[in-house]
Amino acid sequence: MTDSLTVRDNRTGSEYDLPITNGAIKGADLGKIKTSEDEPGLAVYDPGFVNTASCRSAVTFIDGEKGILEYRGYPIEQLAEKSNFLEVAYLLIHGDLPTKEQYDTWQHEITYHTFVHENVKSFMEGFRYDAHPMGMLMASVGALSTFYPDAGQIQDPKNRHMQIIRMIAKMPTLGAWSFRHAQGKPFIYPDNDLSYTANFLSMLFKMSERRYDADPRLVKALDILFILHADHEQNCSTNAVRSVGSSQVDPYSAVSAGVGALYGPLHGGANEAVLRMLRRIGSVENIPDFIKGVKDGNERLMGFGHRVYKNHDPRATIIKKACDDVFEVTGVNPLLAIAKELEKIALEDDYFISRKLYPNVDFYSGLIYEAFQFPPEMFTVLFAIGRTPGWLAQWDELVQDKEQRIARPKQVYTGQRQLTFVPASERWA
Ligand code: ACO
Repeated sequence: MTDSLTVRDNRTGSEYDLPITNGAIKGADLGKIKTSEDEPGLAVYDPGFVNTASCRSAVTFIDGEKGILEYRGYPIEQLAEKSNFLEVAYLLIHGDLPTKEQYDTWQHEITYHTFVHENVKSFMEGFRYDAHPMGMLMASVGALSTFYPDAGQIQDPKNRHMQIIRMIAKMPTLGAWSFRHAQGKPFIYPDNDLSYTANFLSMLFKMSERRYDADPRLVKALDILFILHADHEQNCSTNAVRSVGSSQVDPYSAVSAGVGALYGPLHGGANEAVLRMLRRIGSVENIPDFIKGVKDGNERLMGFGHRVYKNHDPRATIIKKACDDVFEVTGVNPLLAIAKELEKIALEDDYFISRKLYPNVDFYSGLIYEAFQFPPEMFTVLFAIGRTPGWLAQWDELVQDKEQRIARPKQVYTGQRQLTFVPASERWA
């Protein structure tokens, strides 16, 4: 068996042998297929990159049919149960788990860089009182490039490392301050005696107390949520980070593009829609009517279905368990009973079984965030903080990848050609 694909062009009768590497042919090889030398070669038309690999990557593995998610080869279930977010961030960035010494240095570096320049505070104060925190996060992380102009030296590994540390360290500060701004509350400076996640909760919720000590069960649950969101291979926002990063711009600008992509309702916003749906259903008795509406095509069961996972979303299983731990502290959200019953009924129904529709990561995450008393517009900010190490690991890989070039997709042109321009003075005469 040869690892190649033989293609016959029926326009010319010519045959081409295209090498297959890692289950893919090169798009450029298709370009050699042409009817004459002076015409452009064959292109692939693939809106949304549904079956086009944009890179080789060793960061995250997903098998959607089997419901497998691995960071650098480690199953997500094991990381969520036995690791912590900072260690997972190290794993994603460096490709391997840290030794004790490496972990201590990493934790020290990240903790040391949690503060932002005082000017950041003043421009964040300049946003309108009701500014969306995602807009504030996107703008402020992009603005960090102006504080670190050397960040443009992306070919220098030490420089890249410095910006990676800074961004993982400062995202919780920016995220928390965007939340405080909307609440009209003073910004809280980082407390570097606290863990990464406990410090984030302190910057969000501290008022006049000397020190904000969050319940360790809540800290653990939020840390797990960060781990679950830390990377998801070439999703929309990661693709945005890679695409913008391929221009060799500094990483703050590239990550700011990722935050922008995540802001969109088709990407980071589904958990909010789940909450709205559960509220609308109102009680367990109304579920059969709602399911009928879904099957009739009048409704969509939000938090169900995924482009990649067709068996189960492994993150959903872990989140469901984390729900119980959070509600033990905060008291049960009455919407949980509706969610659990909805899931039970849907998983036994042929409509959902035949379409391979299972709960995704967003089915339960909104309920947890609400239990923390986050308003819905903060949900995506939490997602962005968790996803930052993934974006940066993918960006770092991109910068070092010799095969990468500036992202510049082809198009299939469908417009007019060779028109004769008539000046406005004649057209309007
Ligand atoms: N409720 C009811 N029916 C659904 C749902 C749903 N949530 N999702 C898909 N279907 C149906 C479709 O109507 C379609 O049925 P048909 O074959 O009779 O036409 C079939 O299942 C296939 O659906 P597609 O839309 O082709 O699946 P696709 O892979 O394009 O969409 C998506 C995936 C967008 C996630 C979709 O399942 C959906 O809209 N889910 C609800 C929104 C949601 O929870 N999004 C969060 C995703 S996770 C994340 O981004 C972090």
